Amino acid sequence: MKFLGKPGSQRAAFLPLCLLFLKILHPGHSHLYSSRYAGDKVIRLIPSTEEEAYALKKIYQQLKVDLWQPGSISQVSEGAVTDVHIPHNGSRALLAFLQETNIHYKILMEDLQKVLEKGSSLPSQRSRRSVPGYNYEVYHSLEEIQNWMHHLNKTHSGLIHMFSIGKSYEGRSLFVLKLGRRSRAYKRAVWIDCGIHAREWIGPAFCQWFVKEALLTYRSDPTMRKMLNHLYFYIMPVFNVDGYHFSWTNDRFWRKTRSRNSRFRCRGVDANRNWRVKWCDEGASMHPCDDTYCGPFPESEPEVKAVANFLRKHKKHIRAYLSFHAYAQMLLYPYSYKYATIPNFSCVESAAYKAVKALQSVYGIQYRYGPASSTLYVSSGSSMDWAYKNGIPYTFAFELRDTGHFGFLLPEMLIKPTCTETMLAVKNITMHLLRKCP
Ligand SMILES: *[C@@H]1O[C@H](CO)[C@@H](O)[C@H](O)[C@H]1NC(C)=O
Ligand SMILES: *[C@@H]1O[C@H](CO)[C@@H](O)[C@H](O)[C@H]1NC(C)=O
Ligand SMILES: *[C@@H]1O[C@H](CO)[C@@H](O)[C@H](O)[C@H]1NC(C)=O
Ligand SMILES: *[C@@H]1O[C@H](CO)[C@@H](O)[C@H](O)[C@H]1NC(C)=O
Ligand SMILES: [Zn+2]
Repeated sequence: MKFLGKPGSQRAAFLPLCLLFLKILHPGHSHLYSSRYAGDKVIRLIPSTEEEAYALKKIYQQLKVDLWQPGSISQVSEGAVTDVHIPHNGSRALLAFLQETNIHYKILMEDLQKVLEKGSSLPSQRSRRSVPGYNYEVYHSLEEIQNWMHHLNKTHSGLIHMFSIGKSYEGRSLFVLKLGRRSRAYKRAVWIDCGIHAREWIGPAFCQWFVKEALLTYRSDPTMRKMLNHLYFYIMPVFNVDGYHFSWTNDRFWRKTRSRNSRFRCRGVDANRNWRVKWCDEGASMHPCDDTYCGPFPESEPEVKAVANFLRKHKKHIRAYLSFHAYAQMLLYPYSYKYATIPNFSCVESAAYKAVKALQSVYGIQYRYGPASSTLYVSSGSSMDWAYKNGIPYTFAFELRDTGHFGFLLPEMLIKPTCTETMLAVKNITMHLLRKCP
């Protein structure tokens, strides 16, 4: 049962009764997140000069906006798209400022609360525990995802083994699925993680989709069979478990982990700026209240440390590292932290090109691809750069749909098309690994 029927077809006399009934079934529907986003706007701006970029940075700081694109205020620059979520009490000031300065803008969302309530189904609308018939076309809470993992571990022991690589800051288990036919022979492996950033819900949805497809098509699809016979996939559906949970219960747009800081009230570290590779340099912030806070030291976050330890331990086998983010429709490879070309660039580049073509072949969705630094923006301390620097030759970060129309609020009806096309890209990259390129 996804959505209950709308009361529109009922006779007028029954309408109040129906509404009451709906209210009982879905308590709090209209108060999702306590309506904290009512009247908030999402605005797209492209500063056309350096002066405009500078002015924007200043007003963003002043109004305490929630930047959706790029990651941090320091990355706002001339000619680059900026998507900004502005709280309702600041939107009047921002709009006045934009009109005054003549900076070009477009309102992507008039009322964020409305978009939020339209796009996502609510936890209360779905059965929570029933894993058989698990619905892959809705977003799932952390608890649901972990129950689903436990269930698969029991029912598909031939292809799946679930284990924990440690505990999060708040003490939650960091679960990973090892997917692939068990064999005594040496097997190379692919690491896939989703949900490093809490609010990017399409990531965990994709990780689950990948596992579902693998189990469903193992027998019928020769490509999948080959993949699971020759490789192991380590899949971590929710990397930032604390943050993901928080994005369900408190703040839909939470990005970071949930660790406390000794000197500031702000919580959390950007788990994609916390890795020991050019740590806390360009594109990362030293301030605990920023969304791109790099943390007090590299691997300060237990989630990052656990994954780094696992990758260090298994790097001899792991040939590819894939990390799933949103949104931008991009397929990125190293480096993030500098404008330079990686060694063996042509192999990685052709893998990306083919993957993007394969993705596009399904619905015509276009992805840009290239080094993260020049395609998206410069950022230091990222997991992708770290994995690459630590000897994993194929490392990619996906920025899934869309390009800003829904942003982080990608509606559930787009989970299926997004995952279907992404699946082809991942299979394409994986098959590439089984060939000659180093
Ligand atoms: C908007 O409200 C929040 C909390 O209610 C407050 O912290 C913030 O300063 C306000 N912003 C403006 C621009 O008034
Ligand atoms: C997964 O199943 C195996 C037995 O098949 C069990 O040993 C293991 O503890 C399970 N994993 C988790 C995380 O429960
Ligand atoms: C990968 O994508 C390319 C380009 O679309 C295609 O020619 C090739 O057959 C694909 N390979 C696999 C294994 O899917
Ligand atoms: C580049 O390719 C060569 C073989 O063609 C290989 O020996 C080398 O390790 C590769 N370098 C990297 C960084 O992957
Ligand atoms: Zn992200």
